[in-house]
Amino acid sequence: MYNFKYDIGTKVYFGKDQIEQLPASVKEYGKKVLLCYGGGSIKRNGIYDTITGLFKENGIEWVELSGIEPNPRHTTVNRGAAICRENDVDVVVAIGGGSTIDCAKAVAFAKFYDGDAWDIVTRKAKPTGFLPVIAVLTLSATGSEMDTFGVISNMDTNDKLGFGFPESRPVVAIMDPQYTFSVSKYQTASGSADIMSHTLETYFTPVKDAFLQDRFMEGILKTVIKYAPVALEEPENYEARANLMWASSWAINDMVGYGKKCPWTVHPMEHELSAYFDITHGVGLAILTPHWMEYVLSEDTVDKFVEYAVNVWNIPAGEDKFETAHKGIEATRRFFFDTLGIPSRLRDVGITEDKLEVMANKLNLTNVYVPLTSEDVLKIYKASF
Ligand code: NZQ
Ligand code: ZN
Repeated sequence: MYNFKYDIGTKVYFGKDQIEQLPASVKEYGKKVLLCYGGGSIKRNGIYDTITGLFKENGIEWVELSGIEPNPRHTTVNRGAAICRENDVDVVVAIGGGSTIDCAKAVAFAKFYDGDAWDIVTRKAKPTGFLPVIAVLTLSATGSEMDTFGVISNMDTNDKLGFGFPESRPVVAIMDPQYTFSVSKYQTASGSADIMSHTLETYFTPVKDAFLQDRFMEGILKTVIKYAPVALEEPENYEARANLMWASSWAINDMVGYGKKCPWTVHPMEHELSAYFDITHGVGLAILTPHWMEYVLSEDTVDKFVEYAVNVWNIPAGEDKFETAHKGIEATRRFFFDTLGIPSRLRDVGITEDKLEVMANKLNLTNVYVPLTSEDVLKIYKASF
């Protein structure tokens, strides 16, 4: 196990009606709020009225950044930063899924930078300040509510890039599972695949002796396997939504990665798909993951795949290690495509074959679990097509 520093500073209010904690939380960090949200789901399900009602009752002033896109754009970040500067905003409240929270995190540093926020995402410039971010989660998926990362897209250059700063971790996260009752089947399925992918990216690393972390991760995977189908059948099942919500945070809030961190593989491959075709993140991950698993399965990795098959999918360990490993991969495939109903091929989500090589050429994945050249990535894309 590698050395690590435990530092997860987000204060979490989890459960029914925890939104009541929002006014006091805001007042702890500032006076003027930038309220960030997406395309209108929070207006349709009443969360917007609840929150603005609480602001009015508590004398909290706010301005708004609305229309944050799924796969948020750098131009929207720049728009938010300008609003912050014009209105002396001192705290950012994001209500939504990963896209809204990621955009809010980028606005939080872009406020202090006069140029294009994209410069900071591309590491051309360094952030010089950060506003505190409070996350009100409405979709269980990315874990952005409790992690240091954000992902921003530049559709002019077809780039989708991540950033990660310790100061970007939300200071407060309010997680009411009831807020996810209105999430569609498609987004519930996609979010569940994303939670599993975050876990798998950390489960499959070269570190072999992080026994505790691996058991935590098997618990997260089993939680999604148990509750995602329930949430699909019964969108208002509180227990299912609550377990998915807490799993989303723990898959990526650093805890399971401490001591066994290594750069990820499937996420960079998916981010290229989103950057060119604006697809739903978790759907792209679900399509690629089983093919990636098959591609990296070898004499070196087979034992880990057997562990995965046995501990996560309850597949009996047979005499032939590869057969057991294949059964684990097949169970993953069946779960994503049959149980969750996610489309199984890239062509089904609007990806065209002519771009596979262009996307693959942007990737050379070194230092990952099993290093992959552009040619390897192209083979995985083709198998997934
Ligand atoms: O925009 P609105 O109208 O709010 O609708 C959203 C959006 O259309 C809708 N939605 C959210 N909550 C809802 C709801 N609809 C009904 N009821 C609710 N309660 O769902 C749609 C998708 O929302 P989005 O925020 O885009 O989804 P998600 O949470 O999956 O976030 C995806 C983004 O996060 C990035 C992805 O790449 C993608 O850009 N990621 C962020 C990470 C991080 N910060 O650590 C890690 C991830 O690996 C990922 O890359
Ligand atoms: Zn993800």
